[in-house]
Amino acid sequence: MSNKTFYITTPIYYPSGKFHIGTAYTTVLADTIKKYKKLRGYDSRLLTGLDEHGQKIEEVAKKQGKSPQEYVDEMADYAKKMWKTMQIEYDDFIRTTEERHTKIVEEIFDRLMNQGDIYQGEYQGWYCTPCETFFTETQLVDGKCPDCGRDVHKMKEEAYFFNMKKYTDRLIKFYQENPHFIEPESRRNELFNNFIKPGLEDLCVTRTSFNWGVKVRKDPKHVVYVWLDALVNYITALGYLSDNDELFKKYWPANLQIVGKDIIRFHGIYWPIFLMALDLPIPEKIYAHGFIMMKDGKMSKSKGNVIYPEMLVNRYGLDATRYFLLREFAFGQDAVFSPEGFVERFNFDLCNDLGNLLNRTIGMINKYFGGVVPKYDGCVNEYDKKLEEETIEYIKKYQEYMDNYHISNALEEVWKAISITNKYIDETMPWVLAKEEKTDELRSVMYHLMENLRKFAIMLKPAIENTSKEIFRQLGIEDQTLKSYDSIYKYQVFDQDIKVIEKGEPLFTRLDTETEIEYIKNEMKKTGI
Ligand code: ME8
Ligand code: MG
Repeated sequence: MSNKTFYITTPIYYPSGKFHIGTAYTTVLADTIKKYKKLRGYDSRLLTGLDEHGQKIEEVAKKQGKSPQEYVDEMADYAKKMWKTMQIEYDDFIRTTEERHTKIVEEIFDRLMNQGDIYQGEYQGWYCTPCETFFTETQLVDGKCPDCGRDVHKMKEEAYFFNMKKYTDRLIKFYQENPHFIEPESRRNELFNNFIKPGLEDLCVTRTSFNWGVKVRKDPKHVVYVWLDALVNYITALGYLSDNDELFKKYWPANLQIVGKDIIRFHGIYWPIFLMALDLPIPEKIYAHGFIMMKDGKMSKSKGNVIYPEMLVNRYGLDATRYFLLREFAFGQDAVFSPEGFVERFNFDLCNDLGNLLNRTIGMINKYFGGVVPKYDGCVNEYDKKLEEETIEYIKKYQEYMDNYHISNALEEVWKAISITNKYIDETMPWVLAKEEKTDELRSVMYHLMENLRKFAIMLKPAIENTSKEIFRQLGIEDQTLKSYDSIYKYQVFDQDIKVIEKGEPLFTRLDTETEIEYIKNEMKKTGI
């Protein structure tokens, strides 16, 4: 394996209920980046998992008449099944109730206390249970949680605090020296100007109001605040402070940590400070994606507007679902899910643009050359040359976007390349070439079509692997080197003729727009409570 490593993480999820497409989005994004890095020769490692402690989990379990442990065990099975359905290729799945994690959380807390970063005090404030977050009086919006708008309740308790003030200057310096630490830039500026520069408050890092958490070793009526517990999962999963820290040495600091915009404050402020306090390097980049919204605001069961990934996968297939999520929601920005948008992308992008291109190509190669693609023989005319040049430009842009984790833009470049390839058929008119027996030109057109499809299959592999595999299969490409990224910029890649399959099967079957919009809307209604 390569010695270039790439460590990427998703947040660990609260198993407080089923995952909707918003939550699945984070993971699909991270998975696609992991697979891209792998395609580019990196030893690429993806971590995901569950954030199983806290009052909210304790309450949900109780409502279901289960012990918290029973409940989270079930949810861990559910989560793993879900990621399997979404073909998430994670290398480790950490659960914060595992001993490999809890032991190290205890240890970390001890250390921070011994070195004076954590001290004892008294806490007064407002607590939002669903968000597991404390707020000061001034942070509340109309007396409600500023993040989710729900009720908060007053809490006063003896507690331990982390001395954030001590680290504020170092964090400011770190932000100034690493201007791309947080992306998008707008989020970075918001954090830096509104939260960090005005000065940080010390953070309350223990609770006594509930039990379900990691106990403080020296004072076990206190449990460690879920965010301190949760954030360190990124290093406990690598064996930090354990008997075997080989993975930690190999992969830390992370190259990329993906989070949703709602939790960027924790990852952009507390997390680097905890790492500073532990004298550990800070990750290269934290990328905050936007939210998937619905026409009437946030997805919620009370509104009956939730989209579950299984529903889309069961009816439209995994690749259509992944493609939609990755393409429709530009990195960093919020966007609205609409059934119309989903069906449109399916019919236009997948069915017409990509699916038909493959189908027509296979059909013509069979019709004109008995299914055998002739070898490359340079460009025969201007159309070939133009196609080659423009395609290479789109691949370069694809690569640049992928390298910067702008998956949606990268896919857009692939579709631009698909579009000029379709146009190339209209321009070269192979049926006329056949009739006029211009065999050299016809050969060249078939070769270029096949070769472009091969390039698309390579580029699409990280995002929609099944489709990529199916394109290779239909083209009759088995050789691994012909599926590798290294060959993507070349046109002369085959040293022998290639036999495509006799009859192409459609990659995607066109949807009836009205029917499917109705279907999705109905499924959404069923999610209401
Ligand atoms: O926040 N659109 O877990 P979580 C896009 N346990 N992304 C969304 C979304 C939406 N509508 N709703 C949620 C937690 N997400 C903590 C993390 S990490 C040390 C601890 C995203 O289950 C959200 O931004 O509430 C987050 O990235 C992920 O789903 C899991 O959220
Ligand atoms: Mg959340």
